Amino acid sequence: MKYVIAPSILSADFTQLGKDIKETEEGGAAYLHFDVMDGMFVPNISFGIPVMKSIRKATHQVMDAHLMVQDPIRYVKAFKEAGADLITVHLEACPDVRKTLTEIKDLGIMAGLSICPETPVEEIREYLEYVDMILIMSVHPGAGGQKFMEESLDRIRETRKMIEESGKEIDIQVDGGVKLENARKILDAGANILVAGSAVFGDNIVENTRKFVEIFRDY
Ligand code: DX5
Ligand code: ZN
Repeated sequence: MKYVIAPSILSADFTQLGKDIKETEEGGAAYLHFDVMDGMFVPNISFGIPVMKSIRKATHQVMDAHLMVQDPIRYVKAFKEAGADLITVHLEACPDVRKTLTEIKDLGIMAGLSICPETPVEEIREYLEYVDMILIMSVHPGAGGQKFMEESLDRIRETRKMIEESGKEIDIQVDGGVKLENARKILDAGANILVAGSAVFGDNIVENTRKFVEIFRDY
């Protein structure tokens, strides 16, 4: 299984976004996590298509679009055209989950399905055949810098078990409150892609990223 750190640029310094992104790349981040918020599915508004388009020119990292957007099928094509390699939608935000995931796959990119902390894990089972990745939210979506919800560990274990039963190779991404200090227990529970915003950006981005990559050596 591959292990990946996906820095969330929500916590980057937008006055020097290009520089911050380069530093995550230098630190060994294979993915770049892009949090899109529409002010409807979540209360906040972040950034969108034009920002992704210009970042696409600045990095070779896998561009991981986390759409916290109501009825996201309306935007999947635009994000693919802007450079997304992976588009994750929320189960709670899709009037037709299967159709949305199929639409993403038909664009020739990876599809992810995310669930909020209050959604039972069991609800993802019927969609496993359409996804490359499951994103378990370990905070309520909408803002960076929140505390990791410990009950997420059981949800990760349950998801990994369900994936094993399906016989498919599906990544588990965990997003919210991920730090160097809790990374190992999240990986031990069965996750293989860690999103980290506030733990990566700030001082020493290269070093912060590198420390996550070092942890992966033990897995
Ligand atoms: C929350 C976002 C996260 C967030 C993570 O809604 O999906 O990606 O930026 O930030 P930290 O790592 O600071 O919790
Ligand atoms: Zn996210």
